[in-house]
Amino acid sequence: MCGIFGSIMKKGTAAPVIHAGLKRLEYRGYDSVGQATIDDGKLFIKKDAGKIDDVHRLLDLDAMPGMIGIGHTRWATHGAPYKVNAHPHTDCAEEVAVVHNGIIESFAELKAELEAHGHVFKSKTDTEVVPHLVEEGLKNGLSLAEAVREAAKRLDGSYALAVVSTREPDKIVCARKESPLVVGINEGEVYCASDIPAFLPLTKKALIIEDGELVVLNGGSSYEIRKLSDWSVVPREPEVVDWNPEMAEKQGYPHFMLKEIYEQADTLRNTLRLQNQFLDLMTEFLDRAGEVFLVACGTSYHACLAASYMFSKLAFLATHPIIASEFIEQHGRSVNIDSTILFVSQSGETADTLAALEHARLRAATVLGLTNVIASTLTRLARVYVCQQSGPAIGVAATKTFTSQLSVLAQLALRLAKKRGKVSHVEIEFLEKKLEHIPEFAETILKTQSDKITGLAQKYSKSQCFFYLGRGISSATASEGRLKLMEISYVPSIAYPAGESKHGPISLIEPGFPVVFICPKDETHRAVVSNIMEMKARGASIIVVCEEGDDEIKRYADDFIEVPKGIPEILSPILYVIPMQLFAYYMALERGLNPDMPRNLAKSVTVK
Ligand code: F6R
Repeated sequence: MCGIFGSIMKKGTAAPVIHAGLKRLEYRGYDSVGQATIDDGKLFIKKDAGKIDDVHRLLDLDAMPGMIGIGHTRWATHGAPYKVNAHPHTDCAEEVAVVHNGIIESFAELKAELEAHGHVFKSKTDTEVVPHLVEEGLKNGLSLAEAVREAAKRLDGSYALAVVSTREPDKIVCARKESPLVVGINEGEVYCASDIPAFLPLTKKALIIEDGELVVLNGGSSYEIRKLSDWSVVPREPEVVDWNPEMAEKQGYPHFMLKEIYEQADTLRNTLRLQNQFLDLMTEFLDRAGEVFLVACGTSYHACLAASYMFSKLAFLATHPIIASEFIEQHGRSVNIDSTILFVSQSGETADTLAALEHARLRAATVLGLTNVIASTLTRLARVYVCQQSGPAIGVAATKTFTSQLSVLAQLALRLAKKRGKVSHVEIEFLEKKLEHIPEFAETILKTQSDKITGLAQKYSKSQCFFYLGRGISSATASEGRLKLMEISYVPSIAYPAGESKHGPISLIEPGFPVVFICPKDETHRAVVSNIMEMKARGASIIVVCEEGDDEIKRYADDFIEVPKGIPEILSPILYVIPMQLFAYYMALERGLNPDMPRNLAKSVTVK
């Protein structure tokens, strides 16, 4: 997730407007910042690694000539957050500048092809292929818009692009596929941006650019939208947006937590575009390991718990999921050169996780990392790391970052299964296909179940305690559902593998005690039905999260939430947790609490 902004001014220079727009987009990333302007037929660029304010102090981002320009604030995915990888990126002749939000999957092949044609690359980014492709088009006599179209045709992956060129110095050409892009129309001025709030103080007139469209911005607030596919012109008028500044920051959502829950279809899509070579390398290390530990805290630990089922079921690899603060006590002495430890941390800075990591390094173990923050301590200390690409997480309760972690871990398990030949190709292909559809399923849940979950929160808001139960991989989902409810709405909750509940905890049950069952239609289904009956017989109120049309379960339930049919067991936590996140959120609201500010908690826990 990165932020892009561009503007063509009526009077005055574009640079301060771009700078202010990027500040409003900083929530989308803050690893590096850069701007390009055109003046008198020349391209001017300022960029560096670091937060916008720090770079501005060094370079003065406002002091750039020209009434037209583009800018970028980066959340690193391909290439470390160094100056050379900061956007805008340029072609060989320094005539074309490009900013990009998204991931170009085909960049390695394209880069090799362009290098073979004599293009010289400066950065390690996927984006840099774009200015070189546009350069090729311009060399072949195309207009800037046509050259961007030809370039876009070659790109697999996602993009929101803004391109300027000294060849046509009065235009910004933008194109979109799966990354957000909007245009703001003002009196005699026009802007492009990753979201509406970026230009909201300047204009309330916004034009949404759809997937597969290109838009040419000209001076004097004029624009032309075309379809990338057949080059037909798309007539569209701007809409008037009526958001106040606070709503704008949260994109119209009342809280960051809800915004991030709803972002999950997009963030899950991003996890399907990871760099293959790092996943392959990690798979190699896992395959060779004498023993494997999965180490993390909190929500990230629950991802590890789910992953231990994935690795075992798909790749026949036993792993130990361990809470980071217990790692040294529990396994400190046995860890050795044959141990491989995958540390999972959204922030990459959690003190308990880093303490375990330090210990593992001292014992010469192989350290792998899965994180959302490139340049975090975890990425610096891991032998190999994978970035989960969820974009900045502001809500204190982890939501989108959990489902992204699960998606990456499932991909690793699938790769390992393939490598080890433990599961048939047919099954692997089936699971890979399902993984591709997970973002749509997430969208369906968010669209269809939200009202129902609001109602459930109203019904159960006064409950004093909750049970969360699930079997197999769903016991990890239950644990995460419990944590969300507890940390946001302060309702004491207990999670257990459902089979274990009769070994003690069942004594808590009295009439009306709410028990949430995570119940996908997998191998554990029958056994979970028995557990539901045990609880029901003692008067518990049964809430199930089940597969759509699972009438058997629904018969026993007091309330149910449905998840689309046909989700394979190992992918089920990714989707079954989403209703639990919503339930926690609405419970907090019902209890008069602010879900973005849970007491005593911080986003990144950097003390042991
Ligand atoms: C819960 C939550 C925490 C974090 C934990 C680990 O919603 O956010 O439990 O999951 O503090 O943080 P990371 O993943 O940054 O190491």
